[in-house]
Amino acid sequence: MTAVVGTAVQVGKSAVPAPVRAAVLGLGYVGLPVALAAAEAGVDVVGFDVDAGRVAVLEMGRSPVDTVTDESLGRAHATGLLSFTSDPDDLAAATTYVICVPTPLLDKLPDLSMVTSAVEFVARSLSPGDLVSLESTTYPGTTEGLVADLIEQISSLVAGRDYHLVFSPERIDPGNPEFGLRNTPKIVGGVTRECTAAGTAFYRRLVDRVVPVSSPREAETAKLLENTFRHVNIALVNEMAVLCRELGIDLHEAIDAAATKPFGFMPFYPGPGVGGHCIPIDPAYFSWRVRQLGSSFRFVELATEINDRMPSYVTSRIAEMLNAVRKPLNGASIVLVGVAYKRGIGDLRQSPAFSVARRLIRSGAELSWHDPYVSEFVVDGLPLPEVKSLGRDTLSGVDLAVLHTDHSCLDLDGLVRNAPLVLDTRGALNGRSPSVEGL
Ligand SMILES: NC(=O)c1ccc[n+]([C@@H]2O[C@H](COP(=O)([O-])OP(=O)(O)OC[C@H]3O[C@@H](n4cnc5c(N)ncnc54)[C@H](O)[C@@H]3O)[C@@H](O)[C@H]2O)c1
Repeated sequence: MTAVVGTAVQVGKSAVPAPVRAAVLGLGYVGLPVALAAAEAGVDVVGFDVDAGRVAVLEMGRSPVDTVTDESLGRAHATGLLSFTSDPDDLAAATTYVICVPTPLLDKLPDLSMVTSAVEFVARSLSPGDLVSLESTTYPGTTEGLVADLIEQISSLVAGRDYHLVFSPERIDPGNPEFGLRNTPKIVGGVTRECTAAGTAFYRRLVDRVVPVSSPREAETAKLLENTFRHVNIALVNEMAVLCRELGIDLHEAIDAAATKPFGFMPFYPGPGVGGHCIPIDPAYFSWRVRQLGSSFRFVELATEINDRMPSYVTSRIAEMLNAVRKPLNGASIVLVGVAYKRGIGDLRQSPAFSVARRLIRSGAELSWHDPYVSEFVVDGLPLPEVKSLGRDTLSGVDLAVLHTDHSCLDLDGLVRNAPLVLDTRGALNGRSPSVEGL
């Protein structure tokens, strides 16, 4: 195995990067784009996933991730540098290992079992001089603690002495048409300066700008700070949405007015709650670490409480709107429009739509849904009926529609025209019709 990672070899006057063989572990929303970007940057990549079914689909040239198209997968394949496997023995040829496996919560506590398992695979293949990069979001101290310790236990290789170890948080925003992997700066924090340099050299191939920081802990914390910042600010406007309704104030108009200030303000908008794999989860990783010191992270606790309360508030707003037309929630026909956790993608993970749906079903509502990005919406084992369009025929007989996620592809004109009442949880239909109300 090559002993030096990502250094430059002088050929004539130009620096040509040494060949890199990378293994990307975990081929989901994060890992698959990284594997594709690496192949397109000339890196020989093996994408590894424990899910053999996912690997089989990828081998057929089909992307299992809705934000990665079959065409981009095909382009990366065409480089001849990309292969997929679920056999850990295929990791042995790699000199760079990038870990992109999930870090969920289990009973509200960090669940690092998948990181542990991926690190075990890496440790069994690792050679001196290799580079290991953890991209999974986690609490500060994971890379130098859990990852380095486990690798040393299994391989006897010491981070910073025998191999390079870095944390480089993934900042991808699935579905964002403006910022992708290449034009989003990549933070890299290594166990030593040399580790940071090795990590920086690798990521420079993939992204326009690498931001080195002094250790993995700063890199781990930067990621948690970014998502905690969003979490807290979303909670701020969610709480204001509830209060502004009572005060008769249009919060969206106020936010847009405030956003004209050219400095010191960043707009956040209220919604039905927070979802996805980051905002509802990542702040809990920091809270957990802080609790170990006997302290609490009060901002996060309050923000979680406020954001978690939003689906219940949405349900009470629906009941209120129906009540105004003398309709009980029990027996009302309601369609949830957009059930993914955010616009532009079909990711249902932690979507507040589940919580809203559960409450509506419990109250006796007849619930259906519409989301062009989603193929099925199953709540507590019950597949809910899909409404295929927002046309007159499909919405006839519906009492109220809830605009839960405002995908840009939705027929919002049809929604406003054809639904007798609309609760707009996103402020996308402001002022369109008297039948539309906001949060
Ligand atoms: N999805 C996002 O928008 C996003 C953004 C930034 C950071 N992150 C973070 O990136 C990490 C990965 O998230 P994701 O959204 O890509 O997850 P994902 O669920 O989309 O994909 C993870 C993949 O890892 C595989 N896997 C699980 N255990 C494995 C193991 N031991 N070895 C190899 N593969 C394994 C799974 O089969 C799955 O295919 C998480 O820590 C997440 O918090 C996610």
